[in-house]
Amino acid sequence: MTLAVSDFEHICRVVREESGIVLEAGKEYLVEARLAPVLRERNLASYAELAAELRTKPRGPLTVAVVEAMTTNETTFFRDVTPFEVLRTKVLPELFAARPNGPLTLWSAACSSGQEAYSVAMMLRENFDDASRARVEIIGTDIDAKVLARAREGRYSQIEVNRGLPAAYLLRYFAKDGMHWVLREDVRRQVEFRAMNFVGEWRGAPFADVILLRNVLIYFDQPTRQRIVSRMERQLNRGGYLMLGSTESLQDVDTRFDRVELGRGVVYRLPG
Ligand SMILES: C[S@@+](CC[C@H](N)C(=O)[O-])C[C@H]1O[C@@H](n2cnc3c(N)ncnc32)[C@H](O)[C@@H]1O
Repeated sequence: MTLAVSDFEHICRVVREESGIVLEAGKEYLVEARLAPVLRERNLASYAELAAELRTKPRGPLTVAVVEAMTTNETTFFRDVTPFEVLRTKVLPELFAARPNGPLTLWSAACSSGQEAYSVAMMLRENFDDASRARVEIIGTDIDAKVLARAREGRYSQIEVNRGLPAAYLLRYFAKDGMHWVLREDVRRQVEFRAMNFVGEWRGAPFADVILLRNVLIYFDQPTRQRIVSRMERQLNRGGYLMLGSTESLQDVDTRFDRVELGRGVVYRLPG
């Protein structure tokens, strides 16, 4: 079954309009591989049939399924290690001291299946007293309802818990359930997951003191990155921090953020 050029172009246009994700020429193999399960689930005979339905029913359930299939949800617990060290040793102690009584909000934006948000929740339990930990609200958002449902469940495969999670944390915070591991309820309760699209209306976007916006800007073009980062400036409280993925930077966007090297990490601080 092949994907005609006009159908590929239409699918790319829909994905870009709905999510901002850019799929360039040469990514036909990716579109075919990701959409093959969608064809099967919906009894569609071909990519041509899928593209035709997208044309006749724009914004229908098939559009949602196509966008979700085209998101890359790759994530791990404590991904890249350093950002969590920077949070533990620099960012959170500074924010706790600056706001001795107030609550702090940490936003895992584009949280995928929740490992990033839950890594922060476990790190807080390991390193801060109960009173400090209780002051931190953690919000995870993503465009993809499927990964959000998984995140809320806090249920991970053996392969997923083998990636980045210290063995001691697995034993302390997870219970075995058949072939899976389920995160303790009190840790799950510290994180609230919400649906939010960066190219939508930003309903559900929190005002935060720390925003983790990691490994997602790479999927967008420059104007979209600019709009998202400018909006993030408005969602951050003064003196707050934005943290990007290890290969990402704000080099090609115009911002008010100061680039700050903290330990071995780089963070972006909103002047306070
Ligand atoms: C590669 S994962 C990154 C997960 C995590 N932040 C990390 O670094 O491990 C990228 C996530 O961005 C989400 N995403 C893609 N486009 C989005 C959009 N327009 N709005 C919100 N989330 C989006 C995807 O659904 C996916 O879960």
